[in-house]
Amino acid sequence: MYEARCGGCHAIDANRVGPMHRQLLGRTAGRVPGYDYSPALRASGLIWDAKNLDLWLRDPEALIPGQSMNYRVDSAEDRRLLIGYLGSASVSAPSAARKAPN
Ligand code: HEC
Repeated sequence: MYEARCGGCHAIDANRVGPMHRQLLGRTAGRVPGYDYSPALRASGLIWDAKNLDLWLRDPEALIPGQSMNYRVDSAEDRRLLIGYLGSASVSAPSAARKAPN
């Protein structure tokens, strides 16, 4: 789901067209180092919790007018699954620390 719907622009551990998503939940919007956000998103001061993410994915422009993510997820069920996935990626250790046990 994440790869299919978001992977064209985002990755968990790399900035692409959109900013990386590692540890998104609980983070302030517009703060990934090295990513060139729209001034609107950077200035929003929003915290990415499940509620704000749901609003964002439903209609980014309604949540933060002037932002630059031109993509929506219309299905509430899809949003729920995506937010669950982003939450799980947020709580797991960063990839550098996630080595295979010996
Ligand atoms: C067409 C490209 C595109 C697609 C597809 C896309 N995004 Fe984005 N996304 C962006 C861009 C560009 C930004 C930066 C927006 C800005 O700076 O205003 C962004 C920003 C975000 C942010 C804010 C991150 C932060 O650090 O504040 C979140 C959260 C996000 N996207 C989630 C998603 C999810 C989840 C999906 C899949 C359902 C998705 N996006 C699909 C382009 C995309």
